This record gives sequence, C-alpha cells and structure tokens, in this order.
Amino acid sequence: MIEQQIKAAIRDIPDFPKPGIIFKDITTILKDPVLCINIVDAFVDQLKGKQIDVVAGVESRGFLFGLTLANRLGVPFVPVRKAGKLPHTVKQKTYDLEYGSAVIEMHVDAFEPGANVLLHDDLLATGGTITAASELINELGGTVCGFTFVVGLGFLGGKEKIAPINGDIIVLAE
Ligand code: PRP
Ligand code: MG
Repeated sequence: MIEQQIKAAIRDIPDFPKPGIIFKDITTILKDPVLCINIVDAFVDQLKGKQIDVVAGVESRGFLFGLTLANRLGVPFVPVRKAGKLPHTVKQKTYDLEYGSAVIEMHVDAFEPGANVLLHDDLLATGGTITAASELINELGGTVCGFTFVVGLGFLGGKEKIAPINGDIIVLAE
C-alpha cells in the first residue's frame, strides 16, 4: 500500500524549524526511486477519468512530484512561485502565515482562461498555501479541478479548509 510505503519512508524531525514543530522530511522519499514512481502512479490512478488541462505545483517541494505528474498526464506543468522569481508578467497573492504573511505569484499566461487546473503540493498542513494558490488560479481565470498531496497533517484542518473549493482532494498518506 502506498500509504504505508510513504509513512515508512518519511522522516520526522522534531523541533524543526522551531520548537514544538515536527517537520515531515520528504528527502528520504526522494532517495527511493521506486517509491517516487509509485507515488506518481497512485496519483495517476486516482485521477483517472478527470479532465485536467494543466498541473500547477507550489514552490518548492510541490515541484518535485508536480512536474512528473504533469508529464505522466501529458499536460503542461506551471509553477506557483514565491515572490520575485518569475521573469514574465505575474499576478500575486498575499496570504497570512502564523506570523506575518507570504506572497506567491504565477505568470499571467500560465494557462488559458477556463483551463481545468490540478493543484499539487507535497504537504497539506493548515491549507493556507494551497488556498492562496487556488484563489490565484481563480483570479487568472482558471478552474481548480482537484488537489494532490503526498502527505496530509490531518490535525491541522487543511482538508476542511479546502473542502469548500470544488474538486477532489487526493492525499496519499494521512
Ligand atoms: C510547506 C509545504 C507546503 C506548505 C504547507 O512549504 O511544502 O507547501 O508548507 O503548509 P500549509 O498547508 O500550512 O500552508 P514551505 O512553505 O515550508 O516551503 P518549501 O516547499 O519551499 O519547503
Ligand atoms: Mg511547500
């Protein structure tokens, strides 16, 4: 089962980046090429029959599986980046963090208006990042048609936060 494989491979780092946080380190997943393939296979399997025009992955860890997933689905990959990294004309979205705020950006021509966009990130925690990305996609004229995550931290309520947005929520390990 993919869930057990992910849970066995992921590394918990206590008190990183600050005391009280248990960091989910996915670098240990990336060292296992078979598991990486299995992860993308599991996404592809669960997305069967869905109309997906583009996959958007969130910087930086959302790039790792996002690009491979897009390649496997045979659709374009577009990056959702932290501020100041994308060279062409961008649209921004500011969102709240526990302390302060963060800014994400996408190219204004990342996809055609009306495109069905699958949003991917490695991890769903509070859901703040992915909600901001979803709002940005809407503002650019796209429709978020689903979400894929390798890992979800259920106790932080991310799934409940994004539930009102249309689209399937696929979390391989919770
Ligand atoms: C982590 C993770 C998700 C996000 C989840 O990224 O990769 O993108 O936080 O948290 P949330 O659901 O509470 O918003 P991070 O901002 O640490 O950056 P990175 O991917 O560049 O490491
Ligand atoms: Mg991230």
